[in-house]
Amino acid sequence: MTAQTRTHQTLITPGTTPATNLPVAEGRPVPQDFLLGAATAAFQIEGARHEDGRTDSIWDTFSHTPGAVVDGDTGDVACDHYHRYAADVDLMRSLGLQSYRFSTSWGRICPDGGPVNAKGLDFYERLVDSLIESGIAPWLTLYHWDLPQALEDRGGWTSRETVDRFVDYALAVHDRLGDRVRTWTTLNEPFCSAFLGYTAGMHAPGRTSPADGLAAAHHLLLGHGRVVQELRARDASLELGLTLNFTVADPLDPSDPRDVDAARRVDAQMNRIFLDPIFRGEYPADLLEDVRHLGLTDHVMDGDLEVISTPIDVLGVNYYNGEAIGHEPPADALDDSVNGGRTTRSPFPAADDAHRHPRGLPVTAMDWEIQPEGLTRLLVRLHEEYAGPAGVALHVTENGAAFDDAPDEDGFVDDRGRTAYVRSHLGAILDAVDAGVPVRGYFYWSLLDNFEWAWGYAKRFGIVRVDYDTQVRTPKASALDFARIISTRRLPSPWDAPATSGDGDDPAGESTP
Ligand code: FCB
Repeated sequence: MTAQTRTHQTLITPGTTPATNLPVAEGRPVPQDFLLGAATAAFQIEGARHEDGRTDSIWDTFSHTPGAVVDGDTGDVACDHYHRYAADVDLMRSLGLQSYRFSTSWGRICPDGGPVNAKGLDFYERLVDSLIESGIAPWLTLYHWDLPQALEDRGGWTSRETVDRFVDYALAVHDRLGDRVRTWTTLNEPFCSAFLGYTAGMHAPGRTSPADGLAAAHHLLLGHGRVVQELRARDASLELGLTLNFTVADPLDPSDPRDVDAARRVDAQMNRIFLDPIFRGEYPADLLEDVRHLGLTDHVMDGDLEVISTPIDVLGVNYYNGEAIGHEPPADALDDSVNGGRTTRSPFPAADDAHRHPRGLPVTAMDWEIQPEGLTRLLVRLHEEYAGPAGVALHVTENGAAFDDAPDEDGFVDDRGRTAYVRSHLGAILDAVDAGVPVRGYFYWSLLDNFEWAWGYAKRFGIVRVDYDTQVRTPKASALDFARIISTRRLPSPWDAPATSGDGDDPAGESTP
């Protein structure tokens, strides 16, 4: 397996950064205790669809639905990580990653959401053991969107019963790995599970109902709280929490009350709908007012909010970009939607009149604006308003960029756009640290090019290239640069990594001085 992992160590001149050969001494110091790693998710990399007892998730069903995913791509094989995990861990070790954030597959461990399948747990035990042997701290996420299809058939996250099954599954994983894994996060991005999946129709299971999205959001939160309670009761020393994805919603015209209100709605329906129940034990009043016709409170039983607000230890922050929100649509809309001809709608249950406006910033291949300063503002806000008063540390659990990579004949990608992206966002995090925010780590999304949900394999986020025909992994320039940042604890300036063709116009974004 290792032979299939090519490295480009020869590109690195000792004492310099690999992408640019600049002297590292000039870089900004990265605190010694700041954790640097990379993230993946089970469905996006594992493949082995029906092996060792695994049964289908909603993403198997969705990706096999004609028109749902670009090019008809599926997760059947993906990066074949199920069989290649040992070589992938070797690769992580060669890059010096300090931690690896991965998710476990519910349908591999509890096929159809039912009784435990020991073979499924065996796989994660092998993975965790090899990480630990390699000195890489495992960071485990229980739910990264792959609900067993059999549970969806009984109502999915709109049904309260799914919460009980989630607890069963979480306890089964803890039974096997609780003595080895210290950091447990319950959910990845419940906004996407609930609202891209049940309201927008863009993700599995592909429903287009605002009411269903709200019901799903509440049950996801309840599942999070129940699992935190159960795991805490078993072992008070675990680090428990969840990962949320955030936007930074700025009004297009701060002097126009209609734009201010549109931005408020987006902030409520993406950020505060999860933050307030978790940190304050209540849904925001303005959100309840905006969605009062959609039945959210019908699902909220006595005691739910106490469960949901069970104290956590870590908040995972996923940040890709913020947005300028106006009350009218722009002439030139940014289009990052993909629907393969399916019927889709806004993910926001009650913000149809909120519209994202392009700001002239450089964009990635996803058409996502590159806005590192938004990450600094987000971290400061989260610390001041939510995590700080609760004594909760922040980790950036996802941040990264897809670009149209152009490999050379050896499969090497000189991705200076991605290199600059990572550097500029790490710099934005260090700005927050300098402002007093306790940010403890950063996980690049993603270690590998992988199945990017409705985009299939068309969008590449990896710092390691995957040739899907051969499954050969080739670290890109960004991986070598990241490895050097980890080993030197020095962050070079993003503008030292100029764009090359196919990397976007101005990869350093607005942090170019
Ligand atoms: C996040 C997801 C992750 C990946 C990145 C690009 O929303 O958590 O799985 O798709 O976006």
